[in-house]
Amino acid sequence: MDQQNTARDLVWQSSQTSTQERRVLLKQSPVTLWMTGLSGAGKSTLAFHLEKRLIDAGHACFVLDGDNVRHGLNRDLGFSPHARTENIRRIAEVAKLMNAAGLIVITSFISPYRDDRSMAREIIGSDAFREVHISTTLQQCEHRDPKGLYQKARAGLISEFTGISAPYEPPIAPCLSLDTSASSVEACTERMLALIQPFLDETRR
Ligand SMILES: Nc1ncnc2c1ncn2[C@@H]1O[C@H](COP(=O)(O)OP(=O)(O)OP(=O)(O)O)[C@@H](O)[C@H]1O
Ligand SMILES: [Mg+2]
Repeated sequence: MDQQNTARDLVWQSSQTSTQERRVLLKQSPVTLWMTGLSGAGKSTLAFHLEKRLIDAGHACFVLDGDNVRHGLNRDLGFSPHARTENIRRIAEVAKLMNAAGLIVITSFISPYRDDRSMAREIIGSDAFREVHISTTLQQCEHRDPKGLYQKARAGLISEFTGISAPYEPPIAPCLSLDTSASSVEACTERMLALIQPFLDETRR
């Protein structure tokens, strides 16, 4: 109700700066590289490695990471299907804002539902959205169990845990699929760099 009432009275305020001016300023085009995969698949590891590579190369970028965002912006959300959808909606809106500011955004969220990832693509816009499936198998993720969460989930101490007691819907046509049990962090990062290369304008550097 509140939402409808306020929306009616809102007027979009235009910036005096164009997307193109920001492109020239930052020497890059904004993009969101959206990682999806099971817990322990390697999303955060790869996201922060890629971020470091991009920053070292002089690109403005930022990682939106699942655990980090749940410490602040999304601290009020749990792991029910509805809460997961709202989690992804807010992240997508933040990624969109960061892209509007000219940044390259890397997101590392399990984002288990296909519909939620479609929503993220719609919010961010297809042209700037690249879906990357970190496809490491459940068996491998559970074997790694870097946070001890699978053990807790198997023991019934965590409910609605993706892969154990909640579903994971793999992407049907991701831009890239990376199995981190078969490829090193370096090799995976190179493949993601190649994917976003068109957004990194070296000629203006
Ligand atoms: N090639 C690789 N790429 C990424 N991680 C790897 C690779 N090989 C081994 N690992 C290890 O796998 C684990 C991946 O954990 P990480 O926290 O990155 O997963 P995640 O997908 O972010 O999980 P979560 O959804 O719980 O946040 C780390 O312990 C990492 O060192
Ligand atoms: Mg993570």
